Amino acid sequence: MAASCHCFVAGLLLLFSGVLSFPVGQEKRDATTCGYQSCHATKPTMLNVHLVPHTHDDVGWLKTVDQYFYGDRNNIQHAGVQYILDSVVDQLLKNPDRRFIYVETGFFYRWWKQQSSSMQQTVKQLVNQGRLEFVNGGWCMSDEATTHYSAVIDQMTIGLRFLNETFGICGRPRVAWHIDPFGHAREHASLFAQMGYDGFFFGRLDYQDRARRMNAKEQELLWRASDSLTPPMADLFTGILPNGYNPPEGFCWDQLCTDDPIRDDTDLEDYNVDDVVQRFLHAAKTQALVYKTNHIIMTMGSDFQYENANLWYKNLDKLIRYVNDQQGNGSNVNVLYSTPSCYLQELHQANLTWPLKTDDFFPYADSAHSFWTGYFTSRPALKRYERISNSNLQSCNQLEVLGGPVSRKGLFGQGDSETLRKAMAVAQHHDAVSGTEKQHVANDYAKRLAKGWQHCQVLVSNSLASLTGSSAERIYCDYLNVSVCPLTESSSKFSLSVYNPLGRSVTWPVRLPVNGTAYAVTDAQGKPVDCQVLPVSRATQEVRRSRGFAKNELVFQVRAPPLGYSSYSVSLLQDGPPSSSPQHQAPTSIQNKFLQVTFDPDTGLLSGLSNLETKQTIKLSQNFYWYNGSNGNNVESLQTSGAYIFRPNSSTPVMVSSKARVEIFQNSVVQEVRQWFTPWVSQVVRLYADSKAVELEWTVGPVPVSDEQGKEVITRLDTSIKTAELFYTDSNGREVLQRKKDFRPTWQLKKTEPIAGNYYPINSRAFIKDDTDQLTVVTDRSQGGASISNGSLEIMLHRRLLHDDYRGVGEALNEWSELFPDGLVVRGRLLLSLEPPATAADAHRPLAQQVVSQPLLSFTDGDLNPNTRLEFSGLQASLPPAVHLLTLSQWDQESVLLRLEHQFQSWESKASSQPVTVNLQKLFSTLDVLGVSELNLSANQWKDEMKRYDWSPEKEEKPLLKTFEDPSVWEITLRPMEIRTFLLRVTFK
Ligand SMILES: *[C@@H]1O[C@H](CO)[C@@H](O)[C@H](O)[C@H]1NC(C)=O
Ligand SMILES: *[C@@H]1O[C@H](CO)[C@@H](O)[C@H](O)[C@H]1NC(C)=O
Ligand SMILES: [Zn+2]
Repeated sequence: MAASCHCFVAGLLLLFSGVLSFPVGQEKRDATTCGYQSCHATKPTMLNVHLVPHTHDDVGWLKTVDQYFYGDRNNIQHAGVQYILDSVVDQLLKNPDRRFIYVETGFFYRWWKQQSSSMQQTVKQLVNQGRLEFVNGGWCMSDEATTHYSAVIDQMTIGLRFLNETFGICGRPRVAWHIDPFGHAREHASLFAQMGYDGFFFGRLDYQDRARRMNAKEQELLWRASDSLTPPMADLFTGILPNGYNPPEGFCWDQLCTDDPIRDDTDLEDYNVDDVVQRFLHAAKTQALVYKTNHIIMTMGSDFQYENANLWYKNLDKLIRYVNDQQGNGSNVNVLYSTPSCYLQELHQANLTWPLKTDDFFPYADSAHSFWTGYFTSRPALKRYERISNSNLQSCNQLEVLGGPVSRKGLFGQGDSETLRKAMAVAQHHDAVSGTEKQHVANDYAKRLAKGWQHCQVLVSNSLASLTGSSAERIYCDYLNVSVCPLTESSSKFSLSVYNPLGRSVTWPVRLPVNGTAYAVTDAQGKPVDCQVLPVSRATQEVRRSRGFAKNELVFQVRAPPLGYSSYSVSLLQDGPPSSSPQHQAPTSIQNKFLQVTFDPDTGLLSGLSNLETKQTIKLSQNFYWYNGSNGNNVESLQTSGAYIFRPNSSTPVMVSSKARVEIFQNSVVQEVRQWFTPWVSQVVRLYADSKAVELEWTVGPVPVSDEQGKEVITRLDTSIKTAELFYTDSNGREVLQRKKDFRPTWQLKKTEPIAGNYYPINSRAFIKDDTDQLTVVTDRSQGGASISNGSLEIMLHRRLLHDDYRGVGEALNEWSELFPDGLVVRGRLLLSLEPPATAADAHRPLAQQVVSQPLLSFTDGDLNPNTRLEFSGLQASLPPAVHLLTLSQWDQESVLLRLEHQFQSWESKASSQPVTVNLQKLFSTLDVLGVSELNLSANQWKDEMKRYDWSPEKEEKPLLKTFEDPSVWEITLRPMEIRTFLLRVTFK
């Protein structure tokens, strides 16, 4: 999206009569002089201005990704990526000095496929000569607040793989480029460092932070992005661009802009060369005041610019010529075509020290009352769908490997993982999972994910048919969260297989919609499994609407082996009315062997939580509230609450209800208290027999807006924990960062928005703690959260707003659909665990992994063939507790990509924050590993060829890269927070 919301007058055709000639081919170029070797010479005694022609092409925002590619629906926004690439290539050929960078491989790939081989050759030559350079190079430019690291790594991997396979070494980007995302995550910086980037540039940061950094010349810095990885493994040089990502004022020469062209024929009217040169010299010198070296960068382009690249290049050619002509008159400004990597090379050669940063760039505010903290929660249903799709993709990838080639083409037809992989990559875009796109575009992202999942279903069915030896048709029930599954609702005998994508076995509760009242369930060994039948709740009946009719839910716990499946058979014993009826008197407590949850008998609300093993007890009350989104008539500022921005009209949220009506169900499998607050807010507090976490299943919506008030619904946990204004949130699902109320680690915060300015992104978990107690909340999607008063943690669940927030999307965030014409209903789960701080990570790390990589359920009707293999594990043994199997996917015919991750930070756990060694040859049960090569994190460079620029922080010894020896080729050691990426050559045993 655009950095500002100017209205450009489009389509103004400008005619030039001035003719310039260029010294073509002034230097002989090696056939492959790309990268740093292809940079233009600079002048060490002058101020060098690096002009970077670029376009910012959103992979969907106001239009869908394909509409942007084709230039369709130009009535919404004039933008056509295919024409941009056509035009830029054309213009690059006209003058070898010209440069262009391209960023979004998802678009480039679409264009490349359609080119003739001679055009492809031409483009390869431009890339080999460094005239066209890829930066960033992921499929999209990912959002940083609401993305999970596993999906970010995947989307970078497919983009960079395409570039490497198409262009080889010259296609490898040296620079990460996140010019538009709305705040910057530390984990993203850490990932970029591990992907081999030499530096990182971005455009947006808090306006107070920027002001201070400009003053102190600290807009270029060294980001130490991990507290656990040994420096400089996660060190990333970071530069903040001067004008967001736009050109300096007055120098925008795109067809979307209205600035004066350079009129350089003295015979014609309005000759303006002197004026342009003077204005440019002034802009350059002003900018140089806030940066450290005699090099500055100017981004010459913006959203979807260069569709008619001639306009830009013709004027830039002239600008360079006329500004540099002044050197003869004593000017010391030298301007040149450049790229971010050429600029970075100069900064590196300057051999300076740089300020060190160890926190992150959240939250982002562009002015006193405009905090971009709403999008942490915007479109909560899309955010959940994206997260489930990630889980399904991981299972699909793994089953493609475990099932062998028959997975792609087998009993059930042709399946693939590629469609979902690409849909997921598109969904990581900073206007996709972020929830900041128009409604029709959000629908398109969801449709792509659904289509991808259909392709994966065929693959999964083929793979499981091969692994189980059963050809029975496999059915997937995607609406189990609202108790809809036609098969289980009607069948009197069916079986369920539970595929577990994690490297250790899991126990998982299953709830299946049924119409009988008694069932028998047996596991893979034929042993009976304790199961119970409960009536479907009123809230579930309301949210499923006409999609299903089950009266009951069959509940039992399943266990699935590491990287494998286990099967359960279910038979109906009895039809008839529900056997268990609820108690309606207010409960005082529910408990299992690990936890006790207490309730206030007068209000029906939660009142306390105890860990029975550690003998910890805290007071814990929980309720639902809403902030009233500003509608633009506030005296201090006209800023509204919208898709991006959270701006409550008052700092005191409105309580939805002071009481909940309750029903309680208690049996040997689950204890649950169903709370009903109002017609649009309900919750179930659940404790399964074997769970060390309490589940809060919330259902919110349709949020009423007939009172003309936009509502931002939160749940708040108020506890007796003494938090001293601190709380903790994860960064992209990985390392945890400390947050302090009304505080920023690197500048003196002037407080303007007491609530919105304290919101932070939560990807998978947040916690509050004191010396004895830590309460961790594991979320099932990205959400915004804050700790406004001591002992309190609030999480924003749903937003329904009536106004646009003037950041370009041009719609109010007011979600509805045909099924929900009265407004979207959203359901999700929070898992709470209470542990001593010293061991809490041992509980919440695996818990969060289970929610992120959840078991994949599939069903077959009737009796199973007696030869069916009922259980399978792809691993020889469970991985050690510290190790997470992050990626297992087919790379090419004989190799698979494997990522193993140490999932603990260095300070988190006495038991688990230790180096751990894994033997790659003893990993798989059905695969022999014949060879191994290690790669960088994004799998586009061999590890032993990975050489990054070294940068020195201020006030500190330059870190020395410690290299660790693995015990052997096959035995590899992982240290806290380390991810290691391998290409394994494998065959089936
Ligand atoms: C960089 O600066 C250090 C001192 O700060 C000096 O020792 C070193 O030689 C310099 N390197 C280069 C390449 O100029
Ligand atoms: C990069 O692509 C080339 C072919 O262009 C291939 O030979 C090489 O193995 C690839 N590198 C990596 C790290 O995959
Ligand atoms: Zn954008």
